Amino acid sequence: MSQTHTAHSPSSTEPHCSFRSAVAAGLGELQKQIPCKYLYDDEGSELFEEICQAEDYYPTRTEMAIMDQYVDEMADAVGPRCLLLELGSGSSLKTRLLLKHLHEPAGYVPVEISPAALEQAVEELHRRFPDLEILPVCADYHTDFSVPSPSSPVERTVIYFPGSTIGNMTPDGAAEFLRHMHAWCGAEGGVLLGVDLQKSEHVLERAYNDGEGVTSRFNLNLLKRMNRELGADFETDEFSHQAVYNSDEGRVEMHLVSDRDQVVTLDGQEFHFREGESIHTENSYKYTLSGFAEVARAAGWKVEKVWTDASRFFSIQYLTVDMDD
Ligand code: AVI
Repeated sequence: MSQTHTAHSPSSTEPHCSFRSAVAAGLGELQKQIPCKYLYDDEGSELFEEICQAEDYYPTRTEMAIMDQYVDEMADAVGPRCLLLELGSGSSLKTRLLLKHLHEPAGYVPVEISPAALEQAVEELHRRFPDLEILPVCADYHTDFSVPSPSSPVERTVIYFPGSTIGNMTPDGAAEFLRHMHAWCGAEGGVLLGVDLQKSEHVLERAYNDGEGVTSRFNLNLLKRMNRELGADFETDEFSHQAVYNSDEGRVEMHLVSDRDQVVTLDGQEFHFREGESIHTENSYKYTLSGFAEVARAAGWKVEKVWTDASRFFSIQYLTVDMDD
């Protein structure tokens, strides 16, 4: 499980340096790489929404189908009067479904870095759940923030982290992030999260090389973003999207591959690309159930319950504090 965790690997738990310095450093590495969080400017976030609707991208609809089938069991596992703390803006169908089924929730805390996305989500949820106390936190959930207290008593704080975003961290990074969660929810707390599972290479590679070409546009948008925001001179037509399953590491890797020998300039610095050389832009780790249980255990959590679809493509897992730890 041990990974080399360099300062510029494309994990989303890396320190928060600016886009410019992250790009300059990442393009100077032997294996060029840029942290995956930079895929999500406004354009990238819109394209990601489109990916979630793409026929070949199974995770979103599979997770939703699991929620649809088992949301009552999830609500029972979480228990009454919980404070639900969601990492992300929380306007999704999944969040609404869960909130609708929770037993007398004490409150809902969406944690979101974008003020506009947060405001929109809160407005929407206020409209749908007028009696629910919503306590928004505008923050980057990779940094520290304090959890607000609702006016009614809380039995248990449960962190909701859907979408298998945990898979965009290395397993060590995921364990570190899960360990950090204890501070937000205490000894009685729980975590309800989406974890994508290992499956055939064909299905995985298809999901990240979708037939509609949305993932390709999502990945190539990073080059456009560097040109737009940093004044780089990438010939965006001279790079190709590539997603491959690395079975040794258990992850899908996204790359931007140079179609020919070329030189790119950024802030007067030249970066040379050989034909076939790539920028590594994202990892998406796929777990076995036992593999993820090990990551959770390393972080002081016990897997209390797992819900999956019939093909075992995706899982939603409920973790509670491991008292043997
Ligand atoms: C956000 N995350 C869970 C997505 C994934 O599947 O790893 C990001 C993504 N990248 C390409 N397609 C989807």
